[in-house]
Amino acid sequence: MKNQVKIKKNINPFKKEINVSSDKSISIRCLLLSSIAIGRSKIFNILESEDVINTLRSLKKIGVNFKRRKNYLEVYGVGINGFNIKKKTTLNAGNSGTLARSILGLCSSINNKIKLIGDKSLSKRDFSRVIKPLNLFGASIRSRKGMLPLDLIGSEFLRPIKYVESKGSAQIKTCIILSAINTHGITKIKAIKSRDHTELMLKSFNYPIKIMRKKKYDLIDVEGMKQFKSFEYQVPGDISSASFFIVLTLLSKNSELLIKNININPSRIGIIKILNLMNAKIRIVNKKKYKGENIGDIKIKSIKNFKSINCPKSLNSFAIDEFILIFLIACKSKGISKFKNLEELNQKESPRLDIAIKFMKMMGIKVVRENSDIKIYGNPYLNLTGNYHIKNFLKDHRIFMMSVIAALTLGGKSWIINDKDSIKSSFPDFIKIIRKLGGKIN
Ligand code: S3P
Repeated sequence: MKNQVKIKKNINPFKKEINVSSDKSISIRCLLLSSIAIGRSKIFNILESEDVINTLRSLKKIGVNFKRRKNYLEVYGVGINGFNIKKKTTLNAGNSGTLARSILGLCSSINNKIKLIGDKSLSKRDFSRVIKPLNLFGASIRSRKGMLPLDLIGSEFLRPIKYVESKGSAQIKTCIILSAINTHGITKIKAIKSRDHTELMLKSFNYPIKIMRKKKYDLIDVEGMKQFKSFEYQVPGDISSASFFIVLTLLSKNSELLIKNININPSRIGIIKILNLMNAKIRIVNKKKYKGENIGDIKIKSIKNFKSINCPKSLNSFAIDEFILIFLIACKSKGISKFKNLEELNQKESPRLDIAIKFMKMMGIKVVRENSDIKIYGNPYLNLTGNYHIKNFLKDHRIFMMSVIAALTLGGKSWIINDKDSIKSSFPDFIKIIRKLGGKIN
């Protein structure tokens, strides 16, 4: 089959420097926010992936124009409430939960019907989490049991809301913030901490948003209907993409890697904190500030002895896309690693908690699950000898890439991993970089 890869050998030691693809969360937010800014924005180094292309296509359908320049993308912002919608509009969010949930907030004041659809994976995901706050604003949504496809009929007369976001979801928070921008008055959000790129970006444009940091949550006040000017943004590298190479290096023999120019926002570096608690010694160097975000280079060296962890729950949303990789390290650690309240992992592109448990058991690792808490009984001597075939039934890009990392580091006679094309949604250059480091992948 054309769309699968074969791996038969662990990667040889490497000492290299790489760049990974641009940050997906920031790329999508740059497009959404520049579409409602006034005038021409310039976005440099935007991620060229399917999730971002679906964002561009969706925005085009609601009247936003773009031009690809030599080294940036130009966005012709229409201002708040400036979208131009035809009678029957269907937006296709493809595989992207971030796009689907955020664009509902962005379009909440449009009173023409908009149909929102997505691929097979997105159509299995929960949208009641954004339908609830959007209904409170005054938008109506018709869906089949809170899932796609759904119809949004926004309202010109939205009212500001007070909302408690208790899942630690940046997608829900972003949906609410974007809807708040369409609403006269002040919307107040109390949100369990999660990635805060939307808030930081708006702050850097001097938009009237207030962020009050508490220990476990943030209080966010958003004043609506304040037009803001176009902007320039240089998108940094994606820590979620870098993470595959962090774990590849840690699990390889005698290897070193420098990953340059990565967004190291505190709400994104849960993986580094967790792995360092497991003895990883990952360092961040060359730190810079950019529009409220932190950027740096990440230095990693292979490690022989990993310690198990009792993972603090407070780090869950800061490592939400990286747990499937952290579990590989737990499999190689001495002792029993414990992770709690991982229910949100089953809300991703595929049910990642269920799939990761199956994956670890396939490798002969003992895993005990109680609801959404798991215990992983690590084996520091893990060296696989079997033949493995990863079916990846919902074509989840991160499951594909995690499987490649396992195949290149944990032994095994042969691995076949399905759905190579899934990488197009977030990290099209993934295989190219694996090869650059010497990984044999067919
Ligand atoms: C994202 C938020 C996270 C994350 C996703 C990207 C974002 O989802 O898993 O890959 O850009 O806001 P949740 O907000 O559902 O946790």
